[in-house]
Amino acid sequence: MADRNVEKKKPVIIASHITKEYRLGKVIVHALRDLSVEVEEGSFVAIMGPSGSGKSTLLHMISALDRPTSGQVILEDEDITAASDRRLARVRSKQVGFVFQFFNLFPTMSAQDNVEFPMMIANMPGSKRRKRAKELLELVGLGDRRHHTPGELSGGQRQRVAIARSLANDPPVVFCDEPTGNLDSTASKEIMELLHRLCKEQGKTIVIVTHDPAVGAVTDRMIELCDGQICKDVKNGKGEKHDKEEKPAKKRSKRKRSAIKKTPKKAKGGEKNAE
Ligand SMILES: Nc1ncnc2c1ncn2[C@@H]1O[C@H](COP(=O)(O)OP(=O)(O)OP(=O)(O)O)[C@@H](O)[C@H]1O
Ligand SMILES: [Mg+2]
Repeated sequence: MADRNVEKKKPVIIASHITKEYRLGKVIVHALRDLSVEVEEGSFVAIMGPSGSGKSTLLHMISALDRPTSGQVILEDEDITAASDRRLARVRSKQVGFVFQFFNLFPTMSAQDNVEFPMMIANMPGSKRRKRAKELLELVGLGDRRHHTPGELSGGQRQRVAIARSLANDPPVVFCDEPTGNLDSTASKEIMELLHRLCKEQGKTIVIVTHDPAVGAVTDRMIELCDGQICKDVKNGKGEKHDKEEKPAKKRSKRKRSAIKKTPKKAKGGEKNAE
């Protein structure tokens, strides 16, 4: 603790003791249970965990798409749990970008028009938004496909359009829910590289929900959810690593410890990478 010389960046998201309950008749589903987490500005964070563990629910709570049942979420210094619906809509339009598994593009509109759309909603003048959409499509490597509709683009290219659209109003944070879930491995890798570049070169904070174990290689941090709580939180690259699930190793014999070391890839808890 005392020797931690890692520069602490400002948290852009602070979720404190959030719970989310869904009521289905008499049944209450506890999707998030007293979960607290902070995300640093400019970081690239993966949220992983088994199906139903609460990943999308957490993303919705911290991105102003939905409100928790209890607890507080601060996004960019603003308490979004106390904000009016009107204010939340504005936060969603200006402060955050979204990328979804199935792209959610307008099928009859060109890539250019899809990217312009959030700027139109935000009342940006036509000439300015045309210029910005063109630049964003160039940024994601689709400068020559601006006039194609989604149906005329590959899956990876569609997701690039969706990423360009997520940046339209220059939000500081981009939330992605399974952005590579509908792509092959080559396109997935390219999308992850693009998101990584946006984080490192444009300073965007990127929070990505994924089942893809390969994302660990490019993210700064991996948060794992189990049954609505954080069960693992590992920071890469800067030497900080903590594993809340880790059992104290004190009772293990030397023999067992060396056996574990020799078979690192055949982890017993491999179910977290299922699917
Ligand atoms: N609108 C809803 N109404 C009722 N229950 C819901 C609703 N949304 C999510 N849940 C429940 O909350 C829990 C967490 O769901 P969530 O979608 O966050 O999981 P997830 O980790 O994103 O799963 P997946 O990997 O399958 O997308 C699940 O038990 C789910 O059934
Ligand atoms: Mg989900």
